[in-house]
Amino acid sequence: MKAILDSLKARLGGLAPRHAVILGSGLGSLVEALNDPVRIPYRDLPGFPQSAVSGHAGEFVGGTLSGVPVLMMSGRIHYYEKGNAAAMRLPLEVLKALGIEVLILTNAAGSVRDDMPPGSVMQITDHINFSGENPLIGEESDARFTGMTNAYDPDLAVAMRSAAERTGTPLHQGVYMWFSGPSFETPAEIRMSRILGADAVGMSTVPEVIIARFLGLKVAAASVVTNFGAGMTGNEITHAETKEMAPIGGKRLATILKDMLASEGQRHG
Ligand code: HPA
Repeated sequence: MKAILDSLKARLGGLAPRHAVILGSGLGSLVEALNDPVRIPYRDLPGFPQSAVSGHAGEFVGGTLSGVPVLMMSGRIHYYEKGNAAAMRLPLEVLKALGIEVLILTNAAGSVRDDMPPGSVMQITDHINFSGENPLIGEESDARFTGMTNAYDPDLAVAMRSAAERTGTPLHQGVYMWFSGPSFETPAEIRMSRILGADAVGMSTVPEVIIARFLGLKVAAASVVTNFGAGMTGNEITHAETKEMAPIGGKRLATILKDMLASEGQRHG
């Protein structure tokens, strides 16, 4: 971890971000909003876990947004790649050691709500861990009993909603349910998720939120809806569709995040 941290710091030069953003499938174009970008591919950091999922670039990109230093992770490893729910623990520990205090997670997701079509952006207000997995299994300190009541930081949630209002960008709110993937859900599972209180379903984010809270990072998260859940239309769901549709809602999400980070930076200096 020290070697990774040292080379990341060296490559970032004087940039000392407090905010990090993890970009989901097809959302890599959000890095284009960064000024003076510095790209650091994960493969340049020995021992850093790399995602082999298409649609994920696999690099850190540091830069500024409205003058606020931000570190983005374009691509992340998923539980379904190796069956390791704690796969993102090292990357998040690196962020914490680098001085990151606020983690903004984004993902591509399926909507289970008729009134939230593809292209929508949904602020994640809470989650349901439906995978039966937990990234803190095996952790031996008492910190493993991490509280999840305010996992999605209430102040950051307000900041995200305010940014959406200021920019006139529609923003839904809802509960994200984590399915392990990598197969998509069945129509019965989508009906179940709706009955259980989900608004969107996906294959990421929940383990990262658990690890981030364990590490004491503040969390905000948003989904970009790429499709209706299985069975809600006549169509089969595909990864190609996810990659094709993500940039549409991704533009809206970029507008919200730019404004949110600018005003966060002003507030905290
Ligand atoms: N289900 C799970 N993950 C997803 C979906 C979906 O419908 N769309 C994009 N990621």
